[in-house]
Amino acid sequence: MNSLKSLIKPITFLVIFISLSACNSGKEVKLLQERKVSFNNNWQFHLNDSTDNDTISNSTTWRNLNLPHDYSIEQPFDINSPTGFGGGALRGGLAWYKKTFTVDDSTKLTSIAFDGVYENSEVWINGNYLGKRPNGYSSFEYNLTPYLNYGDQKNEILVKVDNSNQPNSRWYSGSGIYRNVWLKTTNKIHVAHWGTFITTPMVNKESASVNLQVTIANNYPDKKDITTKTTIYKDNSEIVSFSEIKKSISGNEHLKISTEGTIENPSLWSPEHPEMYTAITEIYADGNLVDEYKTPFGIRNFTFDLEKGFILNGEQVKIKGVCLHHDLGPLGTAINTRALERQLQIMKDMGVNGIRTSHNPPAPELLDLCDSMGFIVMDEAYDMWEQKKTTYDYANFWEAWHKRDLEDLILRDRNHPSVFMWSIGNEIPEQWSERGAEIGRELSKIVKNLDTTRYVTAAMNPPVHVTDESVTVQFENTADKPNALAGSGALDIIGYNYAHQTYPKHQVNFPNTPFIATETTSGLQTRGYYEFPSDTTKIWPVRWDIKFTDGNDDNTVSAFDQVRTPWGSLHETTWKVIKKHDFLSGMFVWTGFDYIGEPTPYEWPSRSSYFGIVDLAGFPKNVYYMYQSEWTDKDVLYLLPHWNWEEGQTVDVWAYYNHADEVELFLNGKSMGVKSKKGDDLHVMWRFPFKAGTLKAVSRKDENIVKETEIKTADVPAKLELLADRTNIIADGSDLSFITVNITDKNGTIAPRANHKISFSVEGPGEIVGVASGDPTNHESFKGTSHKALNGKCLVIVQSTEKAGTIQLTASADGLATNTISITTK
Ligand code: GAL
Repeated sequence: MNSLKSLIKPITFLVIFISLSACNSGKEVKLLQERKVSFNNNWQFHLNDSTDNDTISNSTTWRNLNLPHDYSIEQPFDINSPTGFGGGALRGGLAWYKKTFTVDDSTKLTSIAFDGVYENSEVWINGNYLGKRPNGYSSFEYNLTPYLNYGDQKNEILVKVDNSNQPNSRWYSGSGIYRNVWLKTTNKIHVAHWGTFITTPMVNKESASVNLQVTIANNYPDKKDITTKTTIYKDNSEIVSFSEIKKSISGNEHLKISTEGTIENPSLWSPEHPEMYTAITEIYADGNLVDEYKTPFGIRNFTFDLEKGFILNGEQVKIKGVCLHHDLGPLGTAINTRALERQLQIMKDMGVNGIRTSHNPPAPELLDLCDSMGFIVMDEAYDMWEQKKTTYDYANFWEAWHKRDLEDLILRDRNHPSVFMWSIGNEIPEQWSERGAEIGRELSKIVKNLDTTRYVTAAMNPPVHVTDESVTVQFENTADKPNALAGSGALDIIGYNYAHQTYPKHQVNFPNTPFIATETTSGLQTRGYYEFPSDTTKIWPVRWDIKFTDGNDDNTVSAFDQVRTPWGSLHETTWKVIKKHDFLSGMFVWTGFDYIGEPTPYEWPSRSSYFGIVDLAGFPKNVYYMYQSEWTDKDVLYLLPHWNWEEGQTVDVWAYYNHADEVELFLNGKSMGVKSKKGDDLHVMWRFPFKAGTLKAVSRKDENIVKETEIKTADVPAKLELLADRTNIIADGSDLSFITVNITDKNGTIAPRANHKISFSVEGPGEIVGVASGDPTNHESFKGTSHKALNGKCLVIVQSTEKAGTIQLTASADGLATNTISITTK
């Protein structure tokens, strides 16, 4: 989009720097002094008590724990939980955290930074009130300096978290200090909080111009002379040095400095090659180094084109994205970088190249991982504006806080090369009224004041009307009104939630604004459960406002791609549309992973979603391989369902495949026929009476075999197979080993219907921190040490302590041979 570049603000002080060819100085991109240290350990916690902080501070019933911490995940599933089924039937509540600590250096500034506290946090230091932050997803910090005791004298920080007004979320929010906390120490002259902004106004293969803006704070009362020096590194080698800038900065003032220059032969960032650079900014006062500040960034250019869709570094890239909520399944919302990385690896292996942080600011670690692993991120601010969706949600704080929260999101995240779009809201009720247009313009302006290099969008439902009855009815009261937000001029790109029927007409409806499908599909599936015939589509519920009564008694949903919500589509349907037209930039499927809460189409006993392409334990449902066959270069040949049925029963067999012209299926060595995808088909199917044995598929291209795969009928369940994603982990008290437990017959074939209750025990320097099976109806605690398997599978997560050694994890179940696996921690 042309207007974006022209909007880049003029530079205050322009200094040109020279690009050196990578000189391999070998200098580590490491700061002499980290300004930020983890402040996660040795807190005390107290749930549900008086709201009076004097009483609470003296209370004796405190539990010791380390952060990040989610107190909702520890509570029992409860049909009467005020969070509702939407909130995962887990309770919220009011809680306190406190920590005592000492500080040595009274010449420095000390502050505390919270990456996120859900929600309504209030903070005191040594009895002094620091402030309140209603939004549970915003990152914020407080200056502690004026209130600190130094030397041996102790300080106490006290945090109140109030998540007791329920419901306040349409999905599981978690509760508590669920993201990282940092203690920051700086000199009085320092780079301000989120004080750098790097842009690359001109990028091509030969060179890139880099613009760096630094905001420097002087906390001395008097004027100081400072020198700012920035060096850019690539893979630990110094490649560019900025000229030094000498300036005076008045007492208690902030000063903004800009420099600009060129990097020759830049390594461009893309999902396949997520090349990162690091800028290290040094501040000198009176000749002494007083601050060092690290800004990771990337160089890429992109545009959303009206004809060609998303163009990254000159090449067309289809955004194959997924929406993710922030919970980490059995770990709840307590952030763990390895757990996040695992989620993203599972997505990457499926071919995903885009993540939407639905519907709120993500943990900073998610964006770090998206930068380094290569994902195109749509960073979303809000699920509601002035009009609420649940009684106690953020709409209650909108007026006082929306500007600040949005600004903080942009300031925090605008250096991440993975971020390409800002979403100012999801399915905002005001979108149909002039008020929605007004707020949209206001929010867009707030964003553009801080960043003009990304596109502003909103996830609208839908931006144009759909003639499909089941969808239109959802917006009955607005049926003859146009979407005011879509027409407001606030958006650089039109975001569609669902309504795939309207995508081909996008260029007619919005001739001047490019397209993104912000949210699609909402298919429904239970991993490992199947219904025949597989080629009939079920719409569950029939209409969004009609009570759902058609389901199965055990709240299951077939895992053939055959069940969808009325507003959504089957997985194949939307992808076929997106795939067909170049101008459709891409899509974000609802959802990559199952999440806690929103168990559509069911209610209790269901407590987690059916939307995921991957279940809550991290086990892919079958449709994962449809995407993999379409979205990756890997050779895929994948058969479903499992092969344990009644003798003679009519069954359907599907194959997802790519890179081949045909697939031949053999049952116990006998050919069941050759099938080929026709037209825009994304799978092939056979139907015949079941016979136990071995089902084998062979895919061929030009008569050469591309791939073979087989599935077998399992005998009675006999043993437990334990497979760790990693058997060597770090002894840092937070690293994780995810251990898959398969229930198999004596030959090692997974028993696809086994649901034994499995008990776990651990010896050595590790602990069990989560168990799950992917069953949305299971009410056993995720924090327990036993769990019922779902369709042959279960997951146990083991966490290291700070001691090195060997962890032995043992799994046992009635009637099955016990098994043990060793994990080494170093
Ligand atoms: C969308 C909404 C999501 C989720 C989804 C379920 O309308 O944006 O948050 O509720 O429906 O299908």
